[in-house]
Amino acid sequence: MTQLEQLHADLAALDSQHLRRIRRDNTTPCSPHVVIDGEPYTAFCSNDYLGLAGEPRLAAALAAGALQWGAGAGASHLVSGHYTVQHALEQRLAAFVGCERALYFATGFMANSGALPALAGRGDAIFADKLNHASLIDGMLLARADVHRYPHLDLAALERQLARSNAARKLIVSDAVFSMDGDVAPLVELMRLAEQYDAWLYIDDAHGFGVLGPQGRGTLAEAGISSWRLIQLGTLSKAAGVSGAFIAGHADVIEWLMQKTRSYIFTTGTPPALAQALLASLDIIDSDEGNARRAHIAALIERLSTGLRQTRWRLLPSRTPIQALIVGDNAAALKLAAALLEEGLWVPAIRPPTVPAGSARLRISLSAAHGEGDVERLIEAINRLEHSL
Ligand SMILES: Cc1ncc(COP(=O)(O)O)c(C=O)c1O
Repeated sequence: MTQLEQLHADLAALDSQHLRRIRRDNTTPCSPHVVIDGEPYTAFCSNDYLGLAGEPRLAAALAAGALQWGAGAGASHLVSGHYTVQHALEQRLAAFVGCERALYFATGFMANSGALPALAGRGDAIFADKLNHASLIDGMLLARADVHRYPHLDLAALERQLARSNAARKLIVSDAVFSMDGDVAPLVELMRLAEQYDAWLYIDDAHGFGVLGPQGRGTLAEAGISSWRLIQLGTLSKAAGVSGAFIAGHADVIEWLMQKTRSYIFTTGTPPALAQALLASLDIIDSDEGNARRAHIAALIERLSTGLRQTRWRLLPSRTPIQALIVGDNAAALKLAAALLEEGLWVPAIRPPTVPAGSARLRISLSAAHGEGDVERLIEAINRLEHSL
C-alpha cells in the first residue's frame, strides 16, 4: 500500500467510526439565526455567548480601525508590528481583570500552546486536569516538562501528585470553564494547593471571560482570586465576539512571556483594527447593556436546564452557556443532531477525540442573542425525539 493509499484508508476508517467532520458554509453573519444553502436554522453552536460577533457597533469599530490602521500589522510585535491601539487594549484588559499587565495574542490556541513551554521546561512539572483544552495539552507536550494529568476536578489526586513531586518549578494548569462539559473548576481550592505546594496556577478562562463574574470580568474575578502566582488567559473570540486572546498576571510574568513565548515572537502581529473592535466590545461587556445580556443568558440557561432534565440523554450540570447533553454512542449523537437539523435546529454533535470515547454529546451553546422561543423550540424537540429516535 502506498502512503497515499494508507491515508485514503485512514479517512475511510473515520467514516466507519462516525468520526469524519464536515463544515457547513454560512451565508449570513454569526447569529443564532443563520441561513445555510438557502435554508434558515436556529443555531446553538457558537461561543458567541453575548451575541456580539455580528454586532454592527463592533463591525463599525473594525471598519474604522481598518481605515485608520490599514489591513495588516506588517511584522511581528517585537520587530515593528505593534501599535498604540494594541497597547491600549492590553492596558484595558489588565485593568478589567485586575492584573498588573496583559499580553495580547492572535488566538487562544497560540497563547496556550506557546505560554506553557515558556513557563516550564525539562525537569519542571506540570499538573493538568484531564479535560483541559487541546491547546493546553499541546503546550504541555511542547514544554517537555514532566506531565501529571489528574482525573477531572479530582483535587485529592492533584494533591497526591503535588506532594510526590520534587520538581523545582511546578505549574498547575486548568480550564476555568470546561469547554465541552460547561462545568467550572474549583478555583479557590486550586489556588490553595498552588500556595501550599509553591506552584504557579495557570487558568484558561476562555469561556468565562465576558460571561461570569462582576461586569463579566471572568471566573477568577467571580471567585475573588488574585495572586502573583496566578496567570490567566481570556479569549477575545468567544464572548468578546472578535478574535484573539490575552494572558494577564504579574508584570514580571508577562514580561517573561513576551520575551520567551515562541508563538508570540515568531508570528506576524495581529491586524491593529481588531484591537479597535475589541475596545468597542469591552465597552459593551463592561456596561449595563453587558449586564442585561448576561442576565438574559442566565435566564435561558435556567430554562434549558429545567426543561431538559427529564430526558433519557443526560444533561451535565452546568451553570454556564455550555450545556452538554450526553448521548454516549457516536452514531446516536449524530442521529439526534441530524433529526434536530431536519427541524431547523442546528446543534453540533461532539465526538472523540474532542471528548472521551463513549461520551459523544450534543454541545448546546446558548447566546444572549437567542430568544426565549428559540430555547423553547429546542426543549420541545429534544423531549419529543427522546421517544421517537
Ligand atoms: C478552553 C479553551 N481554550 C482555548 C481555546 C482557543 O481559543 P481560540 O479559539 O482563540 O484559539 C478554546 C477554544 O477555541 C477553548 O475552548
